[in-house]
Amino acid sequence: MHEKLFSDQGRAWIADLPRLAEEYLLRWDLTPDGPSRHGWVGLVLPVRRSDGTPAALKLQPVDEETETEPVGLRLWNGRGAVHLLDHDPATGTMLLERLDADRSLADVPDETEALTILSGLLARLTAMPAPAGLRTLADIAGRMVQDAPEAVTRLSDPGDRDLLRHCAGVVADLLPEPGDRMLHWDLHYENVLAGEREPWLAIDPKPLAGDPCFDLMPALDNRWEEIVATGDVARAVRRRFDLMTEVVGLPRQRAAGWTLGRVLQNVLWDIEDGETRISGPQFAIGDALRGLT
Ligand SMILES: Nc1ncnc2c1ncn2[C@@H]1O[C@H](COP(=O)(O)OP(=O)(O)O)[C@@H](O)[C@H]1O
Ligand SMILES: [Mg+2]
Repeated sequence: MHEKLFSDQGRAWIADLPRLAEEYLLRWDLTPDGPSRHGWVGLVLPVRRSDGTPAALKLQPVDEETETEPVGLRLWNGRGAVHLLDHDPATGTMLLERLDADRSLADVPDETEALTILSGLLARLTAMPAPAGLRTLADIAGRMVQDAPEAVTRLSDPGDRDLLRHCAGVVADLLPEPGDRMLHWDLHYENVLAGEREPWLAIDPKPLAGDPCFDLMPALDNRWEEIVATGDVARAVRRRFDLMTEVVGLPRQRAAGWTLGRVLQNVLWDIEDGETRISGPQFAIGDALRGLT
């Protein structure tokens, strides 16, 4: 994602940001209300609407990843996720309900508490059927299975190759049942902010139609230092996995299988970037869960 921002097109987009922000402040009758925030791709500006309501203006380049964010937010309509107040498809600019940018689930010190809250949200979000026209896990998983054999040859370590082959085999078996729910695809701790209507609300979805079992990874591999600090990585991974499958109500074997699908996806992305090893966290998660598949 960062690569895109550092391309010529990305640079041009950034150079144009102040003008773009100004345009939407005028068009939607907004007043800036505090310092801006940015994540990987977006710029988020706290604003007030003309009636004084706090809101957040999110500017991000339109691409395959970002263009469907409003589709997800509209479907959830505030239930477990931030409200979408306005949207301009021409530039991808969104006006969002204001949440507390200084309080995310990454700031909740008790990991079990944070994960339980996140899992409760995940259960609600992924209970809804996805509308037609979204990217589908069926397509994405099919392509991953096709790309896997070539990717395996790029890995330098026999243990890595064995794990990737195993992941591809498991995903191939799951292909006939890819699911049809609305997935968030990126529900990690920083993408859940404190709100007032509800104590915690999801932001920043990358909507995908598929099996909720595919949505566990971001909460497994984020806050990774805490997994390492337990001294038993495999056990800590399985503890998170057990908690999530229990709260979301997912069949364990299937959840482990689709999580290996996320390992496969992450490794394919890394290989595309020139890596020749599976990263520590991805290997540890794959290794900890393959016994369940
Ligand atoms: N609705 C909101 N209210 C307040 N702050 C927000 C809101 N949405 C996003 N932010 C702030 O902007 C940051 C980046 O937003 P996010 O939607 O996660 O974009 P990115 O795709 O760049 O990660 C968040 O981590 C948070 O600090
Ligand atoms: Mg984010």
